Amino acid sequence: MAKRITIIGTGYVGLVAAVGLSDFGNYVTAVDRREEIVESLSQRKPTIYEHGLEEYLVRNVEAGRLFFTTKVEQAVRDAEVVILAVGTPIDSTGHTDLSQVKEAALSVRENLDAYKVIVTKSTVPIGTNRWIEKTLLETKPADLFSVVSNPEFLREGRAIQDFFHPDRIVIGCEGERARKIMEEVYRPLYLIQTPFVWCNLETAELIKYASNAFLSTKITYINQIANLCEAVGADIHVIARSMGMDGRISPKFLHPGPGYGGSCLPKDTRELVNTGERYGVEMSLVRTVEEANERQKSRVVDKLKALVELKGKKVAVLGLAYKSETDDVRDSPAIAVVSRLLSEGAEVHAHDPKAMDRFREVFPSIHYHDSEFAAARDADLLLILTEWNEYRNIDLQKVRSTMRGDLLFDVRNVLEAESARTLGFRYFGTGR
Ligand code: UGA
Repeated sequence: MAKRITIIGTGYVGLVAAVGLSDFGNYVTAVDRREEIVESLSQRKPTIYEHGLEEYLVRNVEAGRLFFTTKVEQAVRDAEVVILAVGTPIDSTGHTDLSQVKEAALSVRENLDAYKVIVTKSTVPIGTNRWIEKTLLETKPADLFSVVSNPEFLREGRAIQDFFHPDRIVIGCEGERARKIMEEVYRPLYLIQTPFVWCNLETAELIKYASNAFLSTKITYINQIANLCEAVGADIHVIARSMGMDGRISPKFLHPGPGYGGSCLPKDTRELVNTGERYGVEMSLVRTVEEANERQKSRVVDKLKALVELKGKKVAVLGLAYKSETDDVRDSPAIAVVSRLLSEGAEVHAHDPKAMDRFREVFPSIHYHDSEFAAARDADLLLILTEWNEYRNIDLQKVRSTMRGDLLFDVRNVLEAESARTLGFRYFGTGR
C-alpha cells in the first residue's frame, strides 16, 4: 500500500528520493525552510541540475503525489514515514556538523503524535541514529516510533538512474513493524529483486562510510600508479584496463585525474578518520588517502610550474565541476587548481557547460566564457579538469589556432594524445 512520506531537506538526496518515492506511488511531501526552493519546486522547476530529474518532478507533481512545503510541523504530523535528508557538511574544525540533523530530529519529536518510522538518509556519523532514538525517547514512548538508517548510494549526474536501479538497498532496522513499512516504501524495487541488506543501525551507517572511503582509496591508488607511469614511461590506461579484467578488482573507479572531489568522498573519508580516532581504532590507510588526494590536486600546478613560469600567463581552464554531468563544484579539484594558479600570478579564463554559476560564487573575479574557444583565445596554456563529453569531442584545431601558446594539460585524459601532438600541442595527460 502507498505510504504517506515526508522528506526533510531537498538537496540532492532529498529531492531525488522525493521524485523517486512519489514515482513508486507513495504520497510525498518534501520540506525545505527556504521559501524560494519550495516555490521553484512547486512550480516544477528543479533547483539542481540532474539528468532526468525534471521529467520525474513534473510527472509526480502533476499526478498529485508530490508536494513541497516550508511547514515542517504539519508535514511531519501527516506522515507515516519521515525521512531526514538534510546536509551533514564538515565544519571548519574538520568534524561533521550535525546541527541540521539535530534540528530535524527535534521537530520530528515535537510533532510525533502517532506511530511513525523515522528514516535517516543523510550520511551520518556512527551512533547518530542511536542518538536520535535516545532523543525521541526522552519525551515519547518507544511504541510511537522506530528509527531506521537507510543510507543512499546515488551518484550525482546519475542519481535518477541509480535511484531506480540501485545495486543494493541498505536498511538498518531493528523491529518487524518498521521493516514491513520499509518494504512497502520500496515495493517496486522489491518486486524487481533488488538486493536488500537488513542490519542494525551502526552497520548501516558504517556501510556508507566504508563504501565511500573504499572508492576514494581506489581512485587514489590509480592516481599514484598513474604518477609512477609518468616517471617510468608506462601507460596508465593499458594498466587500468588490464587490472580491471581481474574480476576481483573490477574496471570501475580506475580513472586517473586531478584527485577526487565533490560533497561526499572528501567529507566521508574525513569522518571515517574521525570515527577511528573516537573509538581508538587505526584508520591510517584512509588518512593517507586523504593526504595523497590533496597532493594530487597540487600536483597539477606543480607539473605546470616545472614547464613554464606562470606569472602573467593567461591560462584557460576547461571544466570546473568536480566531475561531468553536474553543476556541483563542492570540493572540486578545480578550486584547488584555480586558487594555486591565481596565487602564482596567472590570469584564469574559465569555461564549464553547467558549473560556472556555482564556481562564480567561489571565484567571482576570474574570467568566465560561454564557449571553450572564447576561454582559449590568446591563452598561453590550456587545462582540462572535468571529463565533459563536449571536451572529448572538442575541435582541437580551432582551439590551437585561437591560442597563443602550445601547452595542453589534459588532466582527465579525455583527448587523443597523438592527434593533439600532430596539431602542434605540447600535450601532457595523466599517467601516459
Ligand atoms: C559518491 C559515491 O560514488 C556514491 O555512491 C555516493 O552515494 C555519493 O558519493 C554520496 O555519498 O552521496 P559522487 O560524489 O556523486 O558519488 O561522485 P563519484 O562518481 O563517486 O565521483 C567522486 C569523485 O571521484 C569525482 O571527483 C570524480 O571525478 C572522481 N573519480 C571517480 C575519479 O577521479 N576517478 C574515477 O575513476 C572515478
